[in-house]
Amino acid sequence: MFLSAACDFKRSQADRRKELAAIGSGVPAVSRAAPEPNAELRLRGEGLFFRRAGCAACHKVNQRGDATKCPNLGVGDGMTESVAVRGARRVGNLSAIEYIVTSIVDPNAYVVSGYKPGVVKKLDEPPTSLSDDEIVALAAYLAGLSNTPVTDMDVVRAHNRIEIARRLREQRLAAKRKPQSKR
Ligand code: HEC
Repeated sequence: MFLSAACDFKRSQADRRKELAAIGSGVPAVSRAAPEPNAELRLRGEGLFFRRAGCAACHKVNQRGDATKCPNLGVGDGMTESVAVRGARRVGNLSAIEYIVTSIVDPNAYVVSGYKPGVVKKLDEPPTSLSDDEIVALAAYLAGLSNTPVTDMDVVRAHNRIEIARRLREQRLAAKRKPQSKR
């Protein structure tokens, strides 16, 4: 169908101009940006970040938000790369999205240099109670900040990582609770 309404909602201005030009000339627009995988998931994550999940109380993303005490997860405030780029490098065997999921589930697993551990509560427990799907949506939003597409495999990896991060978190907390007897 000519100009079907099945809108890829991230069409570039150039595409839009091409389509308008095509309407004018009666010739269908030929090129369309390939639909971005997981674009909806990323949008859902963005909404969560700035609203229900409360992340923006502590983090800015690029120029968005006004919290300055915690790391900017985009570029700015001393960060030269977004968390999507720096996260991919941070821990050898983790992809960006896996690193980000870990940071959400187990904030003290890897502490950003210059910041103190222990300030972030468990966000998958009350009062925030993020579901696994919400955690993955948030991670997809942040992983997408580097403008690389978030693939279906990334989403699968992110889900798997939640379980691992949770288990490691509980182990670490249990070890901390043990009385420090003899070393
Ligand atoms: C109470 C403040 C606070 C809240 C709320 C908070 N964070 Fe954080 N976050 C921090 C601090 C402080 C750090 C850096 C210290 C650390 O790594 O533990 C951090 C680190 C991170 C990192 C790693 C950054 C890096 O450069 O490696 C990510 C990703 C992250 N947070 C995502 C989130 C998301 C998503 C949410 C919402 C679900 C969230 N945070 C909520 C304070 C917060």
